[in-house]
Amino acid sequence: MQHEYQDILVSDISSGVLTITLNRPEAYNALRTQLLSEVAEVLDQAAQNDDVRAVVITGNEKVFAAGADIKEMAALDAVGVLNDPRVLHWRRIAQFSKPLIAAVNGFALGGGCELVMHADIVIAGDNAQFGQPEINLGIIPGAGGTQRLLRTVGKSMAMQLVLSGEFISAAQARDFGLVSEVTIPERSLERATELAHKIATKPPIAVRQAKEVLLKAYETTLDSGLSLERKAFTLLAATEDRNEGIAAFMEKRKPNFTGK
Ligand code: CAA
Repeated sequence: MQHEYQDILVSDISSGVLTITLNRPEAYNALRTQLLSEVAEVLDQAAQNDDVRAVVITGNEKVFAAGADIKEMAALDAVGVLNDPRVLHWRRIAQFSKPLIAAVNGFALGGGCELVMHADIVIAGDNAQFGQPEINLGIIPGAGGTQRLLRTVGKSMAMQLVLSGEFISAAQARDFGLVSEVTIPERSLERATELAHKIATKPPIAVRQAKEVLLKAYETTLDSGLSLERKAFTLLAATEDRNEGIAAFMEKRKPNFTGK
């Protein structure tokens, strides 16, 4: 069953997986404040709910999201932009502690591309196009586009996208590490869901620790990152799931992880 919010659809939890579908097709899923607040709200709830082990986020067959809602943005002056609640919603999305997997078909532009970069794994249909066209509006990416893009695709491609506003294809996005797999468009959601289900069977504390430590690599020195990795590795030695995982291997059986 799909639960209808104003701007998104949210599925029931199925085997640990929740799916969020961006649902403003008339505005190419433009990320108005309402939409972002709904995504942040659902992720906040999913973080608190032990039954949710992974979340898939997707759009429709033509568009993932065409960026910030330009019509909404037009009404804001500098003080309005400074106090924009969307900043807070973006932060909540960035802080989601469980795996977030994006299934992207069609356009992922501006804030849409930035939302993709908030996902941990990205599966793209071969019709996907990624871009940061903000420059055409006299602005620059404002939801982490410059920082996450450079760390993801490297300087030259980040500069090309942000300075020229040109789009890249799914295949190029994969070559540059923005996307992990390209499928036919009809399969991207299925593949993202398949991965989410697989991750949902893994020990949840280890999954969350892995996500946290991997993301730290963006913003820390190698030495501090390695130290954090070691601490998380040590912490996991205190979990029942680690004992279960090792015992199951020894006993040649499937592990039964309980999240403890
Ligand atoms: N905001 C609001 N409405 C949008 C929108 C957006 N970002 N993108 C598309 N739409 C609306 C259009 O206004 C249009 O609605 P109407 O029919 O009511 O006029 C409808 O969606 C379809 O759009 P088009 O007719 O333009 O469709 P197209 O197929 O010819 O082009 C497109 C598709 C290339 C995505 C084009 O719509 C486009 O360039 N959109 C804007 C992309 C953009 O500049 N994004 C960056 C926004 S700024 C940002 O995101 C800042 C940030 O970092 C947070």
